[in-house]
Amino acid sequence: MARVLLVLLLLGLAPGLARPLEPCPGPCRCRGRRLNCSGAGLARVPSATRQRPFSVLDFTGNALAVISPQAWKGYPWAEKLVLQDNRLQAVKRRSLEGLLLLRHL
Ligand SMILES: *[C@@H]1O[C@H](CO)[C@@H](O)[C@H](O)[C@H]1NC(C)=O
Repeated sequence: MARVLLVLLLLGLAPGLARPLEPCPGPCRCRGRRLNCSGAGLARVPSATRQRPFSVLDFTGNALAVISPQAWKGYPWAEKLVLQDNRLQAVKRRSLEGLLLLRHL
């Protein structure tokens, strides 16, 4: 009986150990190197860890109004950032700090 329990415990832990990537940030969908947060009702950029190398960040149709200078800390590999249909008044230079590879905005 104890052995069966142990096996069940190990099986329960296994998916967590086997997962190669960080979970997808916030309510977004992740597909390869693309983060799709379109229409996710976001008021702020969800935090991510650098381990997941997104190259495309799609925030179309959210409620982003201000973007803190720290927001992109977890997205140093982003090359494309889509901010259409949000509540941004202006994108300040400092708002994009940390996006080292950004080429398309
Ligand atoms: C992103 O997610 C939305 C909502 O689920 C979906 O309609 C859209 O097709 C997705 N875009 C891409 C490029 O996967």
